[in-house]
Amino acid sequence: MSSLDVQAHVRKHYDDFAAENRAAILESDEPEYWSTADEMYEHLRQRVGSQMALVDHYFDRSLPVLDLGCGYGRQAIPLARRGYRVEAVDLSPGLLDVARDLAAKYQVTITFREVNLVTDRYSDRTDWRQVCLFDVIEHMPPEHRVEVIRRITEVMAPGGVLLISLPSRELDSLSVRVAHRLLRMIVTKSRLEGKEHPYIFPTRAEMERMVSSAFEAVEWFVRARTLFLVLRRRG
Ligand SMILES: C[S@@+](CC[C@H](N)C(=O)[O-])C[C@H]1O[C@@H](n2cnc3c(N)ncnc32)[C@H](O)[C@@H]1O
Repeated sequence: MSSLDVQAHVRKHYDDFAAENRAAILESDEPEYWSTADEMYEHLRQRVGSQMALVDHYFDRSLPVLDLGCGYGRQAIPLARRGYRVEAVDLSPGLLDVARDLAAKYQVTITFREVNLVTDRYSDRTDWRQVCLFDVIEHMPPEHRVEVIRRITEVMAPGGVLLISLPSRELDSLSVRVAHRLLRMIVTKSRLEGKEHPYIFPTRAEMERMVSSAFEAVEWFVRARTLFLVLRRRG
């Protein structure tokens, strides 16, 4: 499948997801922890709770935040409710539409834009100091991950903080690793057949290799089966 096909497929996957779940997301009392599976509630509470704890610790409310791969606004809305000016971008117009309605529900102003992180310009600004990439990079093939990190580097000011989260492979059981291997074998045959995670998640070592030339690692840790990276743009 070509690079353009991959992105068209991802867009359709998330647009379909948005159409199917729009009402449930908009009606949820806690959209930041919402998912299609009730049993994910506690996991999401911990994962999103950790993301926002990092925001509270490392970000400065007087500076704007660039939220990359914002989805329906799971993090963008809480950021705006904390008082941040937020610019949030995503590939899926369907999810962005839900995010705009959610922002209206919570009476917050957020600039949402449709951006393909692999091919598009992220912003007119190249001096961002606070950037999030929460639960996005694992959905991409490895060659796109490298390109996204390169493009993030281009829009950030030296000293700026990049927060990344992704599912952790470090704590995976042997059976999960075996399942990943099988999945990879299947994926090479039938790429992206409607699966949310068609690519094997990057390991911590792979993430380190991708970011180390442009970013200094401030903090790395695993919580709630999620790998969290706090990175500072070298300058
Ligand atoms: C699992 S969702 C995470 C969304 C949100 N950050 C959250 O935690 O709920 C992954 C998001 O990445 C977006 N995405 C995937 N590939 C993308 C690309 N090439 N450009 C922009 N967004 C992309 C999807 O549209 C989707 O909204």
